[in-house]
Amino acid sequence: MARILVTRRLPDGGLGPLAGQDHEIVGPKDDDTPYSTDELCSHAARCDGIVSLLTDRIDAAVLDAGAGGGRLRVVANVAVGYDNIDVRAAHERGIVVCNTPGVLDDTTADTAFLLILAAARLASTAEADLRDGHWHGWGVTQYLGHDVHGATLGIVGYGRIGRAVAARAEGFGMRVVHHARRPTGAAGFVADLDEVLSMSDIVSLHTPGGAETHHLVDARRLALMKPTAVLVNTARGTVVDEVALADALHGGRLFAAGLDVYEREPVIEPRLLSAPRTVLLPHIGSASQATRTRMATMATGAVVAVLAGETPANVVTPA
Ligand code: DGY
Repeated sequence: MARILVTRRLPDGGLGPLAGQDHEIVGPKDDDTPYSTDELCSHAARCDGIVSLLTDRIDAAVLDAGAGGGRLRVVANVAVGYDNIDVRAAHERGIVVCNTPGVLDDTTADTAFLLILAAARLASTAEADLRDGHWHGWGVTQYLGHDVHGATLGIVGYGRIGRAVAARAEGFGMRVVHHARRPTGAAGFVADLDEVLSMSDIVSLHTPGGAETHHLVDARRLALMKPTAVLVNTARGTVVDEVALADALHGGRLFAAGLDVYEREPVIEPRLLSAPRTVLLPHIGSASQATRTRMATMATGAVVAVLAGETPANVVTPA
């Protein structure tokens, strides 16, 4: 009988593919907190498969423990991003890594648009004032944001989610340009990231996380953006230098920001918390019931498939 570690609670139905299978499921913890590295190592040594979340660090130590135990064959992340997993180390140890591409694009693009609208139109600032009793009636000069319709949207990273954001932007009458590492062949491609940053009224980030994109948007690049511009990040927190972003917002060198992801989740840079004109969400990009259930069933389905000797479509290979 195979043993599968499910590291965190999944949405109802998320374990569906495991029903009727003769597999033992271990985890999650009663309080649904993430396992420590030591705990992951000890489970990895005794399990055939792991259904992980992006809060689990599946590093070389965990994979070594899995390989040493002689059982671990697959780690399936309930996320499209997999910067929490050392994919190369897994590959070298013959452990398959899977993710959940394609099922969360529209939900995440919706969240990006939520942040675009809320940040550009100062929704969080205005709502906070209202809730705090600081709104004393309509005024013609209050909460003057920037229009989203007619603005130039710069999309950085043009995979499925970036393209889904572009489709929404067309409906808003925006001019859309995009940057990706390689030419996309699509209209609006701009090879130079700096150019996209300096020409856009709103920039939305959709790159993967990891070493290659670490602080892609740093102090120098933030300084290229218009002082009236808005930066939105639903990708990974590490893509933006948060301290530099907080400096730009506090200094009035950037109009607004909408963030769903952070460099050291769940720790939030204190100067971002106090930054003006900033909308902060707790990593809810894919958080609709239907999408999170699809993500969970896709990941558990991948574990079942690998343990049955099949190769699922959603296998991740080292870059
Ligand atoms: C992902 O799938 O990578 C998302 O960040 C989860 O919402």
